[in-house]
Amino acid sequence: MANEERVDPDLVPKRKLYSGATMPAIGLGTFGSDHAAPEEVAAAVKGAILAGYRHIDCASVYGNEDRIGGAFEEVFRLGIRREELWVTSKVWNDRHDDVIGSCRKSLKDLGLGYLDMYLVHWPFPNFHPPGCSVDARSPDAKSYIHESFMKTWRSMERLVEMRLARHIGTSNMTIPKLKLVLRDAAIKPAVNEMELHPHFQQPELFDFVRGNGIEPIGYCPIGSPGRPPRDRTPDDTVDMEDPVIVEIARRLGVHPAVVCVKWAVQRGQTPIPFSTKPRNYVANLRATTTEALTNGDMRAIARIDRNCRLIKGQVFLWKEDQSWEDLWDLDGEIKS
Ligand SMILES: NC(=O)c1ccc[n+]([C@@H]2O[C@H](COP(=O)([O-])OP(=O)(O)OC[C@H]3O[C@@H](n4cnc5c(N)ncnc54)[C@H](OP(=O)(O)O)[C@@H]3O)[C@@H](O)[C@H]2O)c1
Repeated sequence: MANEERVDPDLVPKRKLYSGATMPAIGLGTFGSDHAAPEEVAAAVKGAILAGYRHIDCASVYGNEDRIGGAFEEVFRLGIRREELWVTSKVWNDRHDDVIGSCRKSLKDLGLGYLDMYLVHWPFPNFHPPGCSVDARSPDAKSYIHESFMKTWRSMERLVEMRLARHIGTSNMTIPKLKLVLRDAAIKPAVNEMELHPHFQQPELFDFVRGNGIEPIGYCPIGSPGRPPRDRTPDDTVDMEDPVIVEIARRLGVHPAVVCVKWAVQRGQTPIPFSTKPRNYVANLRATTTEALTNGDMRAIARIDRNCRLIKGQVFLWKEDQSWEDLWDLDGEIKS
């Protein structure tokens, strides 16, 4: 592989978790949504690892872990060692009462003996069929019930004891929910995966998790330009078209996506950009090792936050006539 197609993994910044473990400060997303087939995503995982990625963000609900397992097998055959990789997976909403079975299934599909990180994908145990409309509601849907979540969390803790997962974490949480989990957990979350991009910086939650020794993992780091129409609303803004991002990209001679990735890593979160195009995923990885954004750039990007949540989660609502805001505890109270 030519040098310009590869980045030395040792040069990629790392995050130190409260356990003392180190996690690469950028990962490859693997949610192909409606546009990238499992084989295409698996080819990207193989190509990305050979290009220097060491952190892969998977989930059972993405429907491609068995193919990604094939990619791992190939790179192991080429000499990459299991310990060099940081692999995350997640339990989906309909398996909160079978965390151990769900984790074992992901391990089998991925062809691994342990995960570096296992997350509760969403705090709601509400199933909906993949690809359904945002107006679809499950008749069995429930609000966040802390006692139920903690039952799930106990099984997550068991995974650590069983050495099936080295770390456990949360995703799509809010400050009120995390406060309860921090109060009641025997093993506190090592990370919280959350939507983070220049137009959605979530400063309070970002500060809260870091203040509690939890690393923020940032999803949709470049504003998820490939998300399907059902996940778009007329008010959504486009990070990559923001004049501040465009101007920095022009000055550095890079794509605006690269500026979003640079900003994320420099701010202190761990972005997990998705791409199936070698040119793009290599550019994103290289963004973490090249000249830093200036303090002026960082201040300018801090000012363009538009509080624009893209992944609103409407399908997880549990009553008719609710608004997606009810999922996110905006007034500091958990909605029931
Ligand atoms: N925990 C959760 O609930 C949750 C929710 C959503 C997402 N996630 C995770 O986060 C990952 C990332 O989120 P996402 O996939 O929605 O959005 P994203 O990473 O913000 O955007 C991905 C899109 O950006 C394009 N892109 C990537 N790098 C580029 C570059 N350098 N130049 C130009 N275009 C570029 C890709 O197209 P090409 O393929 O054409 O390059 C792809 O369409 C997911 O894959 C998944 O692993 C987690």
